[in-house]
This record gives sequence, C-alpha cells and structure tokens, in this order.
Amino acid sequence: VRLEDLPEIDLGAEELQHDMDRAMAHVRPLMESGGLARSVRGIELLTYDRSAALMRDQRYSVAINSRLAGVGLTEGAAYEGMTSLLFNREGSRHTRMRRACAPWFSLRGVERFRSDVRGWVDEWLDEVPDEGAFDFHERIGRRLPATLFCSIVGAPLDDWELFARLSEENQLTSQAPDPKYRRIVEDAAVQTTSYLKELIELRRSTPGDDLISFMLRAEGEGTIDEGEMLGVIWNVLVGSTDTTNSQINLNLATLADHPDQWAILKADPDLVATGVNELLRYNPGLYAVMRSPLEPLDFEGIELTPGDTLWPSVFAPNNDPAAFEDPRTLDVTRPLKRVPLNFGSGVHGCLGRMFTLLEQQEVLKAVLSRWDEVEIVDSEFTGAMYALKSERMTVRFTRDQRVPATAR
Ligand code: HEM
Repeated sequence: VRLEDLPEIDLGAEELQHDMDRAMAHVRPLMESGGLARSVRGIELLTYDRSAALMRDQRYSVAINSRLAGVGLTEGAAYEGMTSLLFNREGSRHTRMRRACAPWFSLRGVERFRSDVRGWVDEWLDEVPDEGAFDFHERIGRRLPATLFCSIVGAPLDDWELFARLSEENQLTSQAPDPKYRRIVEDAAVQTTSYLKELIELRRSTPGDDLISFMLRAEGEGTIDEGEMLGVIWNVLVGSTDTTNSQINLNLATLADHPDQWAILKADPDLVATGVNELLRYNPGLYAVMRSPLEPLDFEGIELTPGDTLWPSVFAPNNDPAAFEDPRTLDVTRPLKRVPLNFGSGVHGCLGRMFTLLEQQEVLKAVLSRWDEVEIVDSEFTGAMYALKSERMTVRFTRDQRVPATAR
C-alpha cells in the first residue's frame, strides 16, 4: 500500500460528530474495504483486529511527542513533566514503574472504594429537589472521578474541584491540536507538579493506605524513585477524571434514549455490570488511541518514522460486526465475547479500568434505584474523533414513588 492510495477520511465531517449510528454508517465502507484510511492526523485503523493488534505492538510508543507537538510543546518543564508520565515511558523503565504501582490496583484494592463511591453519589443525589431538572454534569459526572482521585492519593476530598480543573487543562493534549492550549497546559503542569510533590512529602511523614504510600514502600526497596512516582500519580489524575466523567454522562444519555434498556436494568440491578460494559462499547467516550513507531519501520508497505502517528480506533472496532454481533443494537444483557477497546490494550492497557467501571456501576445503580424515568434536557459533548469531553448535561427525572424517602 502507498499512503496516498489509502481512502481519505475527513474527521471534521458532520456525519462523524454527535451521533454514533451516523458515524458508523460513514466509516463502515472504509472498514469493509480493508480498515485503513488516511486523515489529516495520520493513518486510521478502523477494524477490531487491526486496531487491537497495533495497540499491542511493542514496536510502537503511545505517541506522546506528536501529542505534545500538537500544542507546541517540544521542551521546557511541562514537556519534561508530561513525557515522564507512566503512560509515556517505554521498555524496561515502563515495566519497572508499572510493577511498582500495579498491585495497588488489584480487584481487592479497588473494591475497598465501592462503598465510599456509592455513599458520595447517594449524598449528592439526596440534595437534589424532588422534582425538576438538575445539573448532572457538575453534581455527579465531574465531581465523582475528581473526588475519587483525592481519595486514591490521600488528598483532602474538598480539593476535587482543583483536580477537576487541572485534569481538564492537562487533557487538552488529548484534543484536536491547537497551539492556543500551550500556555494553559504549561500552567497546569506547573501547578500539578507542585501540588503532587507536596502530597508525596506529606505522605512520607504520614503514610496511609493510599497509592502514594504504597509506592513510597516500593521506593524504599529501590524499585521506583520520586520522579517516577510523580509520573504515576500525574498519569492517574489525567487518565481517570475527564474520561470517567464523559463515560458516566454518555451512559446516562444512552439509556435515556433507550427506555426499554433502562427498564431491564431497573428490574434487575444485578445486570448493571454487564450493562456498563455494553454501554461503553456502544457509545465510547474515547474515539481512538495513538501510536508512533519507536524506530523507522515498514507498515503494510508504508515507510514510517517516529514522527508519524497512527490512530487505532476505539469507536469503529467497538461496532465492528466481526467482533460484536449486530453492533448497533444496544443490549444491556449481552455478555461480550471480545473486550471493547475503550481501555486500550497491551503493555499500556488502562491500569484503572476497575476503578472507572466501579464508578459507572455505582452511579447507574443509584439513579436506577431512585428514578422511574430520565430525560436529558440539555447536553453537549465536544472532541468527537479524539476524547469526548462532556461540557454540560442537565437531566430531568421522575422519582420512583415506590422507594421510601429513607432508602433513596
Ligand atoms: C472511562 C474511563 C477511562 C478510559 C476510557 C481510559 C482509557 C485508557 C487508555 C485508552 C489507556 C492507554 C491505552 C493505550 O494507549 O494503549 C489508559 C491508560 C491508563 N489509564 Fe485509563 N482510562 C479510564 C479510566 C482510568 C482510571 C479511573 C484510572 C485510574 C484510577 C486510569 C489510569 C490509567 C493509567 C495509570 C494508564 C497508563 C497505563 C500504562 O501506561 O501503563 N484510567 N487508560
């Protein structure tokens, strides 16, 4: 294949924004004709098999340099900081850093947080008036992951708003590149570094059972150093908040559009875990991940250099009929035979997926137990084809009259 022979995809096309059914109708011919396309940002991989294989191919990095270059960051403190995130380390250093923190993310470790998460959601929903509409985005979607981040690193929970903002600013590197983001990202990087360094110092004198204290023990054994710990926590901040926020909001919006599926989950809350997997498959908040070759190499006849970027898709493989039968049917009871690609795959596969699944499950259980119906009054998601960012979401609900006030 020659690059110029690949079919072209216009990522800004109206068909690809807002509506997944329309987006899939638009890309399906490209999937059927080989699953490769070229776009302004590089090469797009659109089928499940192609995308998953590239995500796992260790000859490629997660393309941080092209991500940062997109906002004009090629040197300086912010560049240094962001290239030292766990996600952006490769090879033996990445393996060592990941091993030093991964045990903390075990199923048992994550489950300890479930009752707190449910308690917060219940508390914030209890404050909502009995009738009418409220701002779900601010009250739940944005607040929950940032509060959980505070808890993960042992910071005061009241700092959630600061972390929500810092994370959103850091995450501008995951949007369509725009040089105007450079200053914002730089300022956020400075603030993030100084806050997180202080927190590491605090945990040195008062250790707990948080992630930082866990890594401090690994530091004592010589397996991770302070800069690397910072690279892990910073990664957890930017990886855990906006992503979860948009998926929580999308899940609710999808169910509001499918009252039959809402009713199935309401009748049997034990299906919520299965339902969440289906919801994130059907309507993913992340559209694609990035890869660049570590060395010059041949990709299907195309000569690539480390400056090139490939985009293994998430949304198209999640709707690939070769991987998921009848993919544009939402069925919250279906056991998925393949893993949706929302969390990437391979050595960088998402370390916090059990955390976000837990958050998404507890939010759904809380709203299903309280409400009979939900309607989205107003919502906006930006960043289609990159990482969806929830800008706002107002919902109106009908209270479940059978639930006594004390149990709500
Ligand atoms: C809906 C929510 C989330 C999505 C869609 C998501 C997605 C991803 C993806 C796609 C990757 C990288 C995969 C790659 O390029 O191959 C990743 C890595 C990562 N994620 Fe998540 N994530 C989410 C939530 C979280 C949460 C809640 C945490 C932490 C509590 C977290 C922590 C991380 C970390 C630390 C990495 C880097 C792993 C490494 O490089 O070894 N993520 N995530």
